[in-house]
Amino acid sequence: MNSQVTVSAPAKINLCLGVGPVRPDGFHPLATVYQAVGLFDDVRVRPAAEDSITVYGDGVDVTDVPTDERNLVLRAARLLADHHGLDEHVEAHIHKRIPVAGGLAGGSTDGAAALVACDALWGTRTPREELLSLAAELGSDVPFCVMGGTAIGSGRGEVVTPVMTRGSYWWVILPAEGGLSTPAIYGLFDELTAESGADEPEISEQLLSALRAGDAELLGGTLSNDLQPAAFTLRPDLAEFLEIGLDAGAFGAIVTGSGPTTVYLCESRGHALDLNRAFDQPGIVVEAPVHGARVIEHKR
Ligand code: C5P
Repeated sequence: MNSQVTVSAPAKINLCLGVGPVRPDGFHPLATVYQAVGLFDDVRVRPAAEDSITVYGDGVDVTDVPTDERNLVLRAARLLADHHGLDEHVEAHIHKRIPVAGGLAGGSTDGAAALVACDALWGTRTPREELLSLAAELGSDVPFCVMGGTAIGSGRGEVVTPVMTRGSYWWVILPAEGGLSTPAIYGLFDELTAESGADEPEISEQLLSALRAGDAELLGGTLSNDLQPAAFTLRPDLAEFLEIGLDAGAFGAIVTGSGPTTVYLCESRGHALDLNRAFDQPGIVVEAPVHGARVIEHKR
């Protein structure tokens, strides 16, 4: 009766984010390399007569997180239950450490966590490929959040292929106040590229070979984000943050995803802790890559 499952799921950053011209379905073709970083939300589910959700913000503002059936956690539970023809409901709780609307896939990773949590709670043992395709129905970033590690994302970001990497990387993740709307940033990207036209996106060979070699300095020079000009248009202060980080010795610095979070690649943990002191509002020092959504507690 008191069964419950808790799943830990990571934030993601994009080492590169190539964006092509908008498709007829309104999404943009992407060529991206995702990396899962050591900053986690925990999602707990218990059986219940009807669906409900509560959210606790651990150092982050959660006022904009929906607490009804629009929340990706409850949508994930419904999707998995329907997929298996089950009439099951959950009482869900999110322990949130990932900034909301930050370009870190916080909402997506909660959806990924819920799929994995409900699969364990209901003993449905959904095959990996099936789980990834359900994840893709929830959102473009959700399959990567299930998978974790470092992976190429293509299609609208939902087609994920693991990438060979060596060693680990230290990042400063600098959240910015306010959040940015992903659709708004893609809309602005369309406006900014209306005249010149967006190229079909590709992933640079240098970036993949830096990852294969485990060479952070080389990797730093290959970071890129086609959404960055759009993010700067709404938030000119982000460019100043990147300058501060580069002056403080970051190997590379970019806006992640649709922003406004910026990320700084460092040589070591010590370097990241030092660099972090350059900012008025310090960021979060994390190691990467880390695992995808995974069960950390299962009470039967
Ligand atoms: O897939 P997801 O629901 O996370 O996407 C949120 C919004 O971001 C989409 O509705 C769309 O406006 C934009 N988007 C896009 N191209 C992508 C991914 C997302 O235009 N590849």
